[in-house]
Amino acid sequence: MHPLFEYDHMEKVYIETYGCQMNFADSEVVASILQKAGYTMAESLDDADYCLINTCAIRDNAEQRVRHRVRELRARQVRDGRLRIGVLGCMAERLQNQLMAEEDNVSFVCGPDAYRRLPQVLAEVADGRQAAEVELSTTETYADIEPVRLGSNGISAYISIMRGCQNYCSYCVVPYTRGRERSRDPQTIVAEAQHLFDRGYREVTLLGQNVNSYRNTEAGFPELMDRVASIDPALRVRFATSHPKDLSDSLLEVMAAHPNICRCIHLPVQSGSNRMLKAMNRHYTIEWYLDRVDSIRRHLPDCSITTDVIAGFCGETLEDHQATLDLFRRVRYDYAFMFKYSQRDGTYAARHMADDIADAEKTRRLNEIINLQGQIALENNQLEVGRDYEVLVEGESHRSKEQLFGRNSQNKVLVFDRRDAVPGTYRQVHVDSCTAATLLGHLI
Ligand code: SAH
Ligand code: SF4
Ligand code: F3S
Repeated sequence: MHPLFEYDHMEKVYIETYGCQMNFADSEVVASILQKAGYTMAESLDDADYCLINTCAIRDNAEQRVRHRVRELRARQVRDGRLRIGVLGCMAERLQNQLMAEEDNVSFVCGPDAYRRLPQVLAEVADGRQAAEVELSTTETYADIEPVRLGSNGISAYISIMRGCQNYCSYCVVPYTRGRERSRDPQTIVAEAQHLFDRGYREVTLLGQNVNSYRNTEAGFPELMDRVASIDPALRVRFATSHPKDLSDSLLEVMAAHPNICRCIHLPVQSGSNRMLKAMNRHYTIEWYLDRVDSIRRHLPDCSITTDVIAGFCGETLEDHQATLDLFRRVRYDYAFMFKYSQRDGTYAARHMADDIADAEKTRRLNEIINLQGQIALENNQLEVGRDYEVLVEGESHRSKEQLFGRNSQNKVLVFDRRDAVPGTYRQVHVDSCTAATLLGHLI
């Protein structure tokens, strides 16, 4: 039968996404694959035949949230016999069949490299069977699939430029859930960015677990950035995430040459202690990290720097923890994602190191970092009062319909009175006041 007829049904799929930006980008690929196969995206769960949950496995609490959600959906399935649940993403890859054994209202699991199989999987489970597609690939990049921009504001979009990770930080589950590193062909990336720009988008974020190791026979990451940033000066380009061991001066030079590459670098440090960095298998020292920070500040004096940090990793002493606080005082990050160490089965740390910091002590250390960072972020923002910024207007502020919000190149959120401003355009905003999270200003 012709494929169009074979899949000629109007079944509806609702996708819920948890986890990192890569997962949000993947959900857009999933939507595209399913739409091509004849499925429709449901606006809400209420009219869905399938609920696909794209999951994260990075910490235990991320997984618990998903399990809670799956159990919550059971009641709906009892009421409405047709709703089938599929688990996608990193938790599907990590737990495979075990997840369906433990949560028996889940019809299928599908890992991050198997999304092309989804149309067949949905057809298979339609009559009540279970299915698991969890094969990882060394080549899949979904480069030929044009993502369906789910929940997009029509202004900014993610472009996934590489998949997988093989850094094997000792605490991290990602190399096991996402497989080997592989980079997408640069032409397809530039074409996707160009196409977005032509449709009115004004910001793209290039995504990878470690974008600095993007490598194709034709281009490394700095060359790729140069090409994407050259599309148009009115297209903002962001990227995440940079591994400190690979943050090169040549990337900083490309950034300096293109004002439309945003002045914001996410540079996860994880710990301020060399002893911990070694145990984490991060391949850099604090001295190296601070040298990279200095280099950023030399090349891009107005660049904001953000980070990730883990409190209470295996064997972390009070001295190691102090070293993290000292590092935060020294770098003065604009933003930080701060976590308690969560042991993940199968990682090097789970196999060879003791998770020996009591949970209450992890929480205490984490809170100390959070409080310090809150203070630093507020002080940094206070320095912004009185400055003018070019802001890409994104939409209505959630506080008031009379106000809009947008971000500056440094990725800081500015809120201002609407007046004649329109989302999707650039405007100059003067900063009048601030909180630790937001700058408040007015249009110039
Ligand atoms: N590839 C990115 C990070 C991806 S995961 C990078 O290397 O920078 C995002 C963050 O989650 C990590 O930077 C780390 O801070 C945190 N994380 C990863 N595994 C964790 C674990 N087992 N427990 C707590 N936090 C963890
Ligand atoms: Fe995990 Fe390290 Fe890879 Fe980041 S670089 S995804 S922390 S293994
Ligand atoms: Fe989570 Fe997987 Fe991203 S574990 S952080 S969704 S790569």
